[in-house]
Amino acid sequence: MKQAQRQWKSILSAAVLAACAATVAAVSAADAASPTRKIAVPVSINALMVTLIDHSAHHIWDYEALERDLSEEEWRIVEYFGIQLAAAGPLLTLGGSGPLDDTWAGSEQWTNYSQALSNAAMLAMDAARNKSKDLLTSAGDALLTTCLGCHGAFKPETPTEGIMHNPEYDHLYHLFEKDTAAD
Ligand code: HEC
Repeated sequence: MKQAQRQWKSILSAAVLAACAATVAAVSAADAASPTRKIAVPVSINALMVTLIDHSAHHIWDYEALERDLSEEEWRIVEYFGIQLAAAGPLLTLGGSGPLDDTWAGSEQWTNYSQALSNAAMLAMDAARNKSKDLLTSAGDALLTTCLGCHGAFKPETPTEGIMHNPEYDHLYHLFEKDTAAD
């Protein structure tokens, strides 16, 4: 290949690469903006409350109630459940498959409570990262205030889908019955 040809070829491939990169960037920007990319939440807020939110929160409260220092492994568990609960806040704002879920998710007050839930969960994550029982107590209190506040504002007397906090399920997460007097 002659020198000039070789140069032209490499200029060309650089141009093709640049064009590809631009196309990829444009496509992902379009994808991100496209409403067709949104995924409807396929489960109900009632189900999420019992299996995700109540479940994660009880782990955090149970570790908070222990009257001793937590081990490395236990702090890690607090952190994991804190992360799950922190992510549950935004998830709640997406609505769900329950009869009232989208109505609730459309309310500003609902968004504020969901944000407060995330904030309280992030406190639990901070507590875990700093191994601070004091912070964990604040996180547990902030969590409880948020649950009660949102329930006072929105929760019907009977769950819309009949899914309740199940005492049997309790055994999964009340791990420390022997260690603590707290319920
Ligand atoms: C953003 C509002 C909101 C927050 C925050 C919230 N909940 Fe709920 N929760 C609800 C609503 C609304 C229902 C009723 C769902 C239904 O009936 O469809 C519910 C239902 C439940 C239920 C099942 C019904 C029952 O009576 O057993 C449990 C358990 C529950 N929540 C636990 C919690 C816990 C624990 C927290 C805090 C860590 C919490 N929730 C935070 C709105 C909220």
